[in-house]
Amino acid sequence: MTVSLNRRAFVKSSVLAGAAISLSARQYSRVYGANSRLGIASVGTGGKGWSDLIGVAASPEVDVLALCDIDNSLPYLGQAADKYKAAIQYQDWRKLLDESKDLQGIIVSTPDFMHAPISLAAMQLGMHVFCQKPLTHTVFEARQMQIAANKYNVVTQMCNQIQSHSAYRTAVNIVHSGKIGKVSEVHAWQGGTPTWPRNTPKPTGSDPVPKTIRWDLWQGVAPERAYKVEMYHPFNWRGWQDYGTGQLGDFGCHILDPVFKSLKLSSPIKLRAEAPALLPESWTDRATVYYEFPGTEYTLGTTLPVTWYDATGALPPREKLIGIPMDYELPTVGSVLVGEKGSLLIPHVAMPKLFPEEKFDVNDIEVLPDVDHYTQWADACRGVGETTSHFNYASPLTETVLLGTIGIRFPGVELTWDAKALTIPNHSKAQQWLTKPYRKGWEPTWI
Ligand SMILES: NC(=O)c1ccc[n+]([C@@H]2O[C@H](COP(=O)([O-])OP(=O)(O)OC[C@H]3O[C@@H](n4cnc5c(N)ncnc54)[C@H](O)[C@@H]3O)[C@@H](O)[C@H]2O)c1
Repeated sequence: MTVSLNRRAFVKSSVLAGAAISLSARQYSRVYGANSRLGIASVGTGGKGWSDLIGVAASPEVDVLALCDIDNSLPYLGQAADKYKAAIQYQDWRKLLDESKDLQGIIVSTPDFMHAPISLAAMQLGMHVFCQKPLTHTVFEARQMQIAANKYNVVTQMCNQIQSHSAYRTAVNIVHSGKIGKVSEVHAWQGGTPTWPRNTPKPTGSDPVPKTIRWDLWQGVAPERAYKVEMYHPFNWRGWQDYGTGQLGDFGCHILDPVFKSLKLSSPIKLRAEAPALLPESWTDRATVYYEFPGTEYTLGTTLPVTWYDATGALPPREKLIGIPMDYELPTVGSVLVGEKGSLLIPHVAMPKLFPEEKFDVNDIEVLPDVDHYTQWADACRGVGETTSHFNYASPLTETVLLGTIGIRFPGVELTWDAKALTIPNHSKAQQWLTKPYRKGWEPTWI
């Protein structure tokens, strides 16, 4: 994509010349350390972006210097601009990056399909990145994010913020403490009903674009299409393949997070999905994805089956959840780790529970405190502490989730995954979905 101004051009040529592109952010955190302040920008200031911005700016060491949103009405750019009056306002993130000389960090809270293009460009400028989940829209983009974070040595954090809540931290600690022994299988589910469009054909016709919205900028790297009121912006973009990642993409990086963290998983070796045939434009309303991972120090046997279920009311087969009584009311969203000594139920955002109940003393469970996922990133950017959902962790998690969305395109077919080579060696058609075409003039600069 074309970013015209000088700083970007300078940085690109520095990279080509072999210079360290990330000097500004890196030097900043290393030289000034804990006494420094952190100047940040926020891109996508409405929706979840609003609480991302408030969360990061809760650090007294953070200065909000720039705000960007394609919609300048009150709920979007408007309310952020009201709160952070000194911040420069933008509607085009490319212009923000071009003029970003005082910025050390960026929050990216746009819809999924714009995470990688914005974050990669920012990392190429040496900026630290706090990016929403799922980290990216394609598997290839997720790998690029990891490579970039390491190459430019920037501080990164994906916003799967429940990871830092007491509930998920406690669950991970229970597994690491050995209470349930080694784990032989995992079941994870999202049984809620999304409000965004699913199994829907592409809308016809067009609506006038409100004056506050820059529709061309919203579409960014995606193929162009006509604006329709409340069909895409805000929130409902989730249901469309060009923009979102469906229910697995929306929740996988949350629900599978304590599974990954506790069992130290990284990449599956194969997967198979069961789902209705996908319409060309929208995501499905139900899917089951069977993953197989290599075993780790916390798992039993050489491989670990992990199954994902999503549909209204979806739950795993009860007989698989060893130790949990058949009539026990499971949460709508959560996971169960079946271990040698017991099963661990991890509801989404609620305290974990051990089964069989009579075997475990609740007073014997160490409850870990919350950590602030947002200021953890701001602190780490300033050289204080480290993030826990950095891209070396978040990219493989996102790759796994997005591989599941590729599986959904080929129901019933077993896909093998070569993580090192970034290939699906047994299925050339599935392999094509690891990446996607980009709108002309908006192609990201890959690492
Ligand atoms: N971590 C969580 O718990 C959580 C919760 C909700 C959403 N999310 C994630 O947050 C992201 C945003 O979701 P949402 O529900 O807030 O969506 P939304 O559509 O409601 O809000 C997106 C915001 O970004 C702005 N925007 C869109 N494209 C932009 C662009 N190119 N440049 C600048 N601004 C742009 C929109 O105007 C809006 O203000 C998604 O990736 C979603 O998965 C995470």
